[in-house]
Amino acid sequence: MMAHEFGLLRRILKERSGLNLGDDKQGMLEGKLRPLLKEFALPSMSHLALALMKPDAHHLRDRAAQAVTVQESYFFRDKVPFHYFIDVMLPKLMVKREVSRRIRVWCAAAATGQEAYSLAMELAERERQLVGWTIEIVATDFAEDALRKARKGLYSQFEVQRGLPVSLLVKYFSKAGNAWEISPDIRGKVAFGGHNLLDDGQALGVFDVIFCRNVLIYFDDVTKRTVFARLAPRLASDGFLVLGAAETTTHLSNDFMAVPERLHGVFCFTPAAAAAASMREEARRLKGGEGASDSDAAPGAARLCASPR
Ligand SMILES: C[S@@+](CC[C@H](N)C(=O)[O-])C[C@H]1O[C@@H](n2cnc3c(N)ncnc32)[C@H](O)[C@@H]1O
Repeated sequence: MMAHEFGLLRRILKERSGLNLGDDKQGMLEGKLRPLLKEFALPSMSHLALALMKPDAHHLRDRAAQAVTVQESYFFRDKVPFHYFIDVMLPKLMVKREVSRRIRVWCAAAATGQEAYSLAMELAERERQLVGWTIEIVATDFAEDALRKARKGLYSQFEVQRGLPVSLLVKYFSKAGNAWEISPDIRGKVAFGGHNLLDDGQALGVFDVIFCRNVLIYFDDVTKRTVFARLAPRLASDGFLVLGAAETTTHLSNDFMAVPERLHGVFCFTPAAAAAASMREEARRLKGGEGASDSDAAPGAARLCASPR
């Protein structure tokens, strides 16, 4: 690949996914894009670069952006956010949502599903306390192959050994050849769908908790600001934003601040942003009638399907 072709690809990837590739990443980029040559019957990287330049190459550009992403994930990654979800966020939200008895959680950039399924298992473990409650888990990613794997709920021995306690493996998985298959019950608790973090997520509705972990590290500050501006209208005024342990909103968004416990990666709205979110909620409530819940999903959210095979 020529230098100008590398430059072009970097620009396209930045536009499509937010990925910010350094000067030294040409070799890595070529390696990750090589499978696309076969998929799109192109003879060389230069042909791929030319094809990507065509104004109508939307699908190819999306595939290129997806091919370069890092889709690594594992069960109960970093542990702390999952404990905080169960011990702090959930009890607080259950007090505040006593009337609607509905809580919505969004795993944005969910990759191959381990994060969403970890939450689903935690909730299944507390089934009795949650009788009469609807806890929706919506998991999105822009990479089609990651979503395909997530929906299947099939994980290798290596993948189930990373972070998943044996007691949960035994309880919620069954052996399928060399792999482990998550139970239909847990699979059915998560609705997977395609979504690009750079796009407006209005159709997804409003969530009480947003997990958006270990993806912002690949973006530059301008893109991080864009993503925070996209996420803020999707969060309930008293909701929580959970980032990766090494990720922060500091200096990148005026809407968020650390939770009082100052846990790495867990944020809530600043008082001013919470007031603005409350006003949005009130406007929605007036539009939707007295009974409309704060966190009602827009009708488009119904398009996400709960884990078909
Ligand atoms: C490293 S994984 C993180 C998975 C999970 N959140 C975790 O912490 O284990 C990053 C994911 O972000 C997704 N991603 C990258 N850019 C994205 C974008 N612009 N919109 C949506 N998903 C994106 C990738 O496809 C990948 O699956």
